[in-house]
Amino acid sequence: MNSFIPGKIIIAGEHAVVEGELALVASIDRGVRVRVVEGGQREFGKDKKGLVGRAIEIARGDESIGVEIESELPVGSGLGSSAAVGAAVIRAVREHLGKPINKEELFNLTMEVEQLAHNGKSSGVDPAAVVYGGLIAYRKGEEIKKLQMPRKRQVLIVLTGKASESTGEMIEIAANNPEKERIFGEIGQVVEEMRARLVVGEEVIDLINKNGVMLEELGVVSEGARGLAEELRKMGYGAKIAGAGGIKSGAGVMTVWGEDFARAKILLDNRHIKYFETIIGG
Ligand code: MEV
Repeated sequence: MNSFIPGKIIIAGEHAVVEGELALVASIDRGVRVRVVEGGQREFGKDKKGLVGRAIEIARGDESIGVEIESELPVGSGLGSSAAVGAAVIRAVREHLGKPINKEELFNLTMEVEQLAHNGKSSGVDPAAVVYGGLIAYRKGEEIKKLQMPRKRQVLIVLTGKASESTGEMIEIAANNPEKERIFGEIGQVVEEMRARLVVGEEVIDLINKNGVMLEELGVVSEGARGLAEELRKMGYGAKIAGAGGIKSGAGVMTVWGEDFARAKILLDNRHIKYFETIIGG
């Protein structure tokens, strides 16, 4: 059985979503493919927490079951790798056992793997994004809302480098900011306005930048990523990290919004910074 689950980018609202604010998130056209293989692997990459073995158990696979995993999502970069691996393993194992799984159950079971990955601090936004796909508005504890946009958007995804901190650690850093309530409240307002604009096809570059600056103020963006975002903003783009961020080394992925990425690409190529384009909505 072959199961493909996409990765995701958080358009807006990361961290604040952990405290109950709204987040906008979209699946991307890269992801994780899993195949069940008797005697196959029960680990993926470093997998110190044993996520794959746990996902197999959650899907009620026994010791004889293993998997083969092909992933296009760099680990620890904000593209939802842990949720996508968890969901793809659970779905592949259930299909192998002749017990196909619906999205609601897959979301709930993936959430168990995600909580293991993120020290029990996940808001559920990553499992929601990778399981339901497309563009969604997510608030913890509420029904997942699919959104439609009148036009597709091209987004440039820049790899600022793998974070040295885990998502759980980054959530803790954000939660320890003494200004967190104000910042989360402001992020929540920006996200609401962004949702209103996206669904009618309006520009959101200024809001992406507002959210990006708030994440910097929250303290989850490395110095290098902050400098890069500033340069891109001066060139007229929207730029913000997408996901948990990182401080000591990389900050994971940064999304860049605009109509024509030619100038951004020249800057990134000159610095040997990797990127790819993705299309969301439509
Ligand atoms: C991680 O992609 C997004 C965070 O808000 C954590 C979460 O909501 O689970 C940082």
